[in-house]
Amino acid sequence: MNTPLLFTRAALCAALAFGPAPLLAQAYDPMRPAGNPLTPAMPGPDAGAPAVELDPELGNLPVGPGAEDTYYQCIACHSTAIIRQQRLTDARWDYLWTWMVEDQGMYEPDEETKEVILTYLKTHFSSER
Ligand code: HEC
Repeated sequence: MNTPLLFTRAALCAALAFGPAPLLAQAYDPMRPAGNPLTPAMPGPDAGAPAVELDPELGNLPVGPGAEDTYYQCIACHSTAIIRQQRLTDARWDYLWTWMVEDQGMYEPDEETKEVILTYLKTHFSSER
């Protein structure tokens, strides 16, 4: 009288033990070694971009003439991140310079230094070249 029930139970156990188990293991394995986030296996989105040398001593501004002048002129009020994220036209850089001086009270250096800095900004953070 118990036989059919026993059989059903055995079949159920077998199905649970051998049936879906490999599938589940494939879908989610809590023991799977996690990837190291510091050494991603896949190349990043800008892996193909040409390497630009950044100067960690100058807030990671690109190395080049004017980097140091730009750093000390601009770091007085904000980090270089606000500069590094820009891609602006030459006219926009000229406008921002004036805005920084007239509205934000930026100290204006001599004409030569101003040219060096603006040339640096227009070279490295341009939407035009
Ligand atoms: C006297 C202070 C001061 C100095 C010096 C200064 N800035 Fe700024 N700058 C500001 C302020 C204030 C803002 C607005 C910040 C904000 O929106 O949070 C700003 C914003 C900016 C922005 C973002 C503008 C936008 O459209 O959002 C850029 C780019 C920028 N500065 C570039 C420079 C550069 C390049 C220099 C150096 C040549 C410089 N700043 C020097 C005060 C200054």
